[in-house]
Amino acid sequence: MSASACDPDLGLPEITARLRAAGCVFAEEEAEVLAGSAASHDALRAMLGQRVAGLPLEHVVGWAEFCGLRIAVDHGVFVPRRRSELLVRRAAALGQPGGATPRDPPLGQPGGATPCDPPLTAPGAVVVDLACGCGAIGAAIAALVTGVDLYASDIDPAAVRCSRRNLEPLGGHVYCGDLYQPLPGRLRGQVAVIAANVPYVPTDAVALMPAEARVHEPLAALDGGPDGLDLLRRAAAGAGGWLAPGGHLLIETSADQAEAAVAAFAEAGLAPAVVTDDDLGAAVIIGRRP
Ligand SMILES: C[S@@+](CC[C@H](N)C(=O)[O-])C[C@H]1O[C@@H](n2cnc3c(N)ncnc32)[C@H](O)[C@@H]1O
Repeated sequence: MSASACDPDLGLPEITARLRAAGCVFAEEEAEVLAGSAASHDALRAMLGQRVAGLPLEHVVGWAEFCGLRIAVDHGVFVPRRRSELLVRRAAALGQPGGATPRDPPLGQPGGATPCDPPLTAPGAVVVDLACGCGAIGAAIAALVTGVDLYASDIDPAAVRCSRRNLEPLGGHVYCGDLYQPLPGRLRGQVAVIAANVPYVPTDAVALMPAEARVHEPLAALDGGPDGLDLLRRAAAGAGGWLAPGGHLLIETSADQAEAAVAAFAEAGLAPAVVTDDDLGAAVIIGRRP
């Protein structure tokens, strides 16, 4: 609805001013999103109140834009971050001839990885979105690579409920449990790509995160243990049993953690490569099962 058309006291300038006063950096854009999402004056006032009180915009409106898709995000579920687009791009690139998207250096070159075998474009190629949260990563990969057979898991029932709403319409299957444990056993040795954004904030750094994350996202979605790599190590160690030969595990991390993450991949028997994107401030470790 148009905010100014239905409530002269709550036009875009007023909404923007209140958001700015509350410390929202992108106040004008957020005002547009709120005004466009509210179905009534009362809803708009309530949403603005929630946002001013510190609820993430995506929780207020119930969706996040990710890789050009509108993904449902429930309260208490991790909000997908723009930097995770690198993980999606690199996973989808494994399905391109030559293994690369136009924006990225060819895989197989320094900083890249080798193309996927079995091919990600083969009908029914299995993709797993591990620790899926709302399922944004799996949904975005499925949007870029047609015909994949999509599976996802998360330990948090709220995340599982939310990701089912996003992934089941795409034919995806979502399971609740610890990392690989809830996946159907028939997928063992069959998976072409595992894409994971597991928690990777070191425990001591969680307290330094913005309140939007600390207060409104579950600790289990953020805290990666003493050096942030507990979940990454476990995901890497378990991947070999699920990947097909030539399949790939991709895990988002930070540039600071990349060296230790690469060592964890190598220890798990995966041939590792690091890709980064300075614009997104993102780093992804890509490991190939020999
Ligand atoms: C950083 S969030 C990322 C969510 C999603 N991949 C995304 O990028 O939007 C990490 C997710 O890992 C899940 N998680 C934490 N520990 C887990 C575990 N042991 N097994 C499965 N999922 C786990 C959390 O519930 C959370 O949804």
